Parts: sequence; structure tokens; C-alpha cells
Amino acid sequence: TALAAPSVMAQDYPTQPITIVVPFSAGGPTDTVTRLVAAAMSEDLGQQVVVQNVGGAGGTLGAGQVAAATNDGYTLLLHHIGMSTAPALYASLPYDPITDFEPIGLVTEVPMTIVARKDFEPETLEDLIAHVKENGENVTYANAGIGAASQLCGLLFMDALDTRMTEVPYQGTGPAMTDLLGGQIDMMCDQTTNTTSQIQAGEIKAYAVTTPERIDVLPDVPTMAEGGIEDFELAIWHGLYAPAGTDPAIVERLTQSLQVALANETVATSFADLGTAPVTAEEATPDALAQRLEEQIALWGEVIAAAGVAAQ
Ligand code: MLT
Repeated sequence: TALAAPSVMAQDYPTQPITIVVPFSAGGPTDTVTRLVAAAMSEDLGQQVVVQNVGGAGGTLGAGQVAAATNDGYTLLLHHIGMSTAPALYASLPYDPITDFEPIGLVTEVPMTIVARKDFEPETLEDLIAHVKENGENVTYANAGIGAASQLCGLLFMDALDTRMTEVPYQGTGPAMTDLLGGQIDMMCDQTTNTTSQIQAGEIKAYAVTTPERIDVLPDVPTMAEGGIEDFELAIWHGLYAPAGTDPAIVERLTQSLQVALANETVATSFADLGTAPVTAEEATPDALAQRLEEQIALWGEVIAAAGVAAQ
């Protein structure tokens, strides 16, 4: 027959390559996480899982593209905390993070690091605070646009210091890192999945990690509290989504495959080398992701409003 019943289609799923949209540039932190997970999911699903980078507008362009995509299980989105900050930052977001997507599961939580070009004068977080307070907008700060994790971290950092720096937006922190390495930009706050190897190699300076404790792969990098900034904790959670209305049997198959991928040895080892870890199987579920999203939309709505940042 030419037309298969939906349940039959779900039973055979997947019969063609799956695309996971990353709403930031190639070579950046979201891309790194996604490529590792996609390779392991591909093995499990017996189909190619292709990563497509759709950068721009702080991740909202790629997310909007998946919200509008056919809900047949062949176009997915891997996005991070930006799914929950965008509603507070954009006056007219072209999608609803809750109603336009089917959550598949949480993926990982990544610490952030405050970093700078190698020859930036401040040596410690205390020095950096003093330097930023003194030089304000003469300090250039890279981020991946409004709605990016790097933008959220910068916003909180500037709020903590009560100072503004000059923000320079990129389509992802992959290209921002290239400019930081080249010395064209002073500093940024970015996920360890993008900064660990450069810090370890001494190619960039690191002032702090945003976790309550220091992390294993960067034992010499102090916490924000150690450096004098209290109550500054940030972990960038990532989730996998399908467009709303995707067949529940397909979502279930994808959740199962995500869990297999997160239990994969190569994925776990690569994540560990980058200062992160896969979430547990209980967290790699639609319910856990739905709950996280809802809580975080409420939290960041309040924090962003309290920081005096208006939606644009
Ligand atoms: C990226 O993948 O480029 C980052 O996650 C951007 C960001 O959110 O800072």
C-alpha cells in the first residue's frame, strides 16, 4: 500500500537518516555534545544521524526551524538552557518552548568557565573584577547572541559587578573561541566542552568555574566563590526535542536511543575529558526534560527581570 498507518510507520522507524539541528555554529560546545551523542544514537538506531548547524539569534533561529519542521521524527533539536531563557529575552519569540516541542530527554549539564585571551592583563578573578570595574565598556566580551549560555553568564557576571562591558555577538562560541585565541576579543564565559583543552594547553587564561566545587579536569581553576563572587552558580543543561505532535512511539524510541547513547563508553569518556558527564537514565526522559524546562523558564524569567534586562 502507498500509505502506511501511523503505528506501522512508528514500528519501522527510522527508515531514513535523522537530522539533529544544533542552533549554534559547528565546533562549539553544543555541537561537540551533539556530535558525540548523534554518533552513538546512529549506531543504536541503525540509521545515519546528521548534525545540522543553524546558528543565529542566540539559538532561537535553529529552535524556530525545528518547531516548524515536519513532526515525523526525522528532524530533532538539541538545545540547552537557552530554551528557558529566550522567553524572557525576546518579546516575540516565533515558537513556544513548551507547546511546540515534544521533549525526548535531558542530555548533560556543563559547567562554565570565565576565560580571557592569553595576554589579557588580569591574573586572578579578583584582578579581573577590578579591571572590568575600571575599564567597563573598553573590555570586549564575546557571546553567542541573546539567548546563548555565554550571554546569560555574561549578563549575570555584569550584574554581579554592576558594570557593563561591550558585548560582541557570534553565531556560536566556536568562532568566538577562534577570535579569543587570536587575541581579537578580551574575554568570554563559555562551557567547559569548548574551553577545557585550550585552558589545559595554556592557550587562554581561566579565572573561574561556575560550579560550587572545582572540577577534576581543571583543578587549578578556582570557583567563583573562591574568587570573591558569591551565589554565582551556573550549569548549562542540554535537552533533545522533537517537534510537537511527533508520534509517541517515535518519541519513546528516541528516548531509548538517547539513553543507550548516554551509557556509551566513548560518550562518557569524552564528556569526562571535557568536564561534564551524561545525565542518568532517569533524567534522559521526556518527563524530566519537561519538568526542567518549566522550572527554568520560571526561574530565568525572574532572574532576568531582576537584573533589569528587558525583552527585545
Ligand atoms: C555554542 O554551541 O556555540 C554555545 O552553546 C553558544 C552559547 O550558548 O554560548
